[in-house]
Amino acid sequence: MQFSARPIDDFATLRTDCLVVAVPEGVKRLQGTLTVLDRLSGQLVRQLLDSGDFSGKRGQHTTLYLPKPAGIRRLLLVGTGKAMKGHDAQQDFLAWARDAGHALHRLHATDATVCTEGLTAAAEQPAWAAQQLAMAVAAAQYRYEATVSRKTPKPALRKVAVHGCGTGAATRRALAQGLAMAEGIHLAKELGNLPGNVCTPSYLASEARKLARRHSLQCQVLDERRMRALGMGALLSVARGSEEPARLIVLHYQGGPAKQRPLALVGKGITFDSGGISLKPGAKMDEMKYDMCGAASVLGTLHAAASLKLPINLVGVIAASENLPSGKATKPGDIVEILNTDAEGRLVLCDALTYVSRYKPEAVVDIATLTGACVVALGEHASGLFSNDDDLADDLLEAGRLTGDRAWRMPLWDDYQKQLKSPFADVANIGGPSAGSITAACFLARFAEDYTWAHLDIAGTAWSSSPKTATGRPVALLLQYLLNRSGLGA
Ligand code: BES
Ligand code: MN
Ligand code: ZN
Repeated sequence: MQFSARPIDDFATLRTDCLVVAVPEGVKRLQGTLTVLDRLSGQLVRQLLDSGDFSGKRGQHTTLYLPKPAGIRRLLLVGTGKAMKGHDAQQDFLAWARDAGHALHRLHATDATVCTEGLTAAAEQPAWAAQQLAMAVAAAQYRYEATVSRKTPKPALRKVAVHGCGTGAATRRALAQGLAMAEGIHLAKELGNLPGNVCTPSYLASEARKLARRHSLQCQVLDERRMRALGMGALLSVARGSEEPARLIVLHYQGGPAKQRPLALVGKGITFDSGGISLKPGAKMDEMKYDMCGAASVLGTLHAAASLKLPINLVGVIAASENLPSGKATKPGDIVEILNTDAEGRLVLCDALTYVSRYKPEAVVDIATLTGACVVALGEHASGLFSNDDDLADDLLEAGRLTGDRAWRMPLWDDYQKQLKSPFADVANIGGPSAGSITAACFLARFAEDYTWAHLDIAGTAWSSSPKTATGRPVALLLQYLLNRSGLGA
């Protein structure tokens, strides 16, 4: 897809397959562009609003087909909802952009012009708005078809012109960032959606190698023998029950000076989590193929960062394994004290977190579908954020707000650590029924004491159950964080 920033001098001479405009809720008298479009359409806009069928509510959209000789073939009206006092105009814009993107996806238009007139956030932060619009429109085009025989026709939309978000270099750069963000999201969604029998630890490793070839990254894949030599007993204990060998995948992106310390992204890559001997109940167990979405977000973010040639150094580490029961599987009570084999995420991550310290990272962010408790606490709207550093936490929260891929900070107080006490081992791998997402993060914190660290629990945000699909989160948050860090944020 191609994005451009274009001013529109005269709607009467504009030629486009589809013009997208914002309609504020409850608009009585037509203003500005809507007046012009009403005239060009032979009062179709007026008639639509008078009919009462379209009020401009959030989520509402309608397509009008303009009679010749108008150069605008379709007019897609997308409601903005009410501009309420004290309401977050930024989040409103993001919601509008998402709605517009999805509505566009359902049409057969090959090119479109999106006009952001009337959206205050776009007027106030034009480059940011351009970036987010490009991301929303491009991301809406994703479809899963890797394992379905009925192929849907390819999305028609090729070119999108954005009007109202500036036309300068900043806007053009922002559009490129938005597109790269969407491509990272796309990769993360695709890997997440692939079934567990296709997307195995070895498959993740081959995807990492593919990415490395494409962007000239350095890639190392550690096999089980190597991991044993490095003492990664926790990770290996998770892999014991599986016929698929575990992998520790390491990717290096060098966009900054060689001496600059890297930023590390560490992803949980459980390609299927049955719970192990502590077997999960059957309902929705299929969704545990999504237990590698942290790993997918690491690959998606690296893909986007490398496409944009960001001037930073990155290390991506993926702890990949299946978690299955078998005669060889680790049992509850086994030491490292594993009281519940379904708390495997923290086990694979603790070895990966220990491993990254060798790169002397400036900061480490791990991303994991770690706990059902986090879904209970925050639902599907926010990822849980835990950190041993307030600045890092604030930066991640801000990146989440800017992209609508929001996180919410949770406490990591020492008080919770005692729930991990064990009479038999240094640390237990579960902390009892209360504060499950926090005790899981507390477990990880013990292995991240040497560096600035944050943990994102994406159990609620990485995929949705209906429709069943990976969301690509938190690629947008992570990439935005990297952009801001590089001083390139829109
Ligand atoms: N992958 C799951 C977490 C999960 C569960 C994510 C449901 C999304 C939806 C993780 O490995 C797990 O099973 N965690 C356990 C931990 C418990 C045994 C302490 C959980 O959350 O129940
Ligand atoms: Mn589990
Ligand atoms: Zn898991």
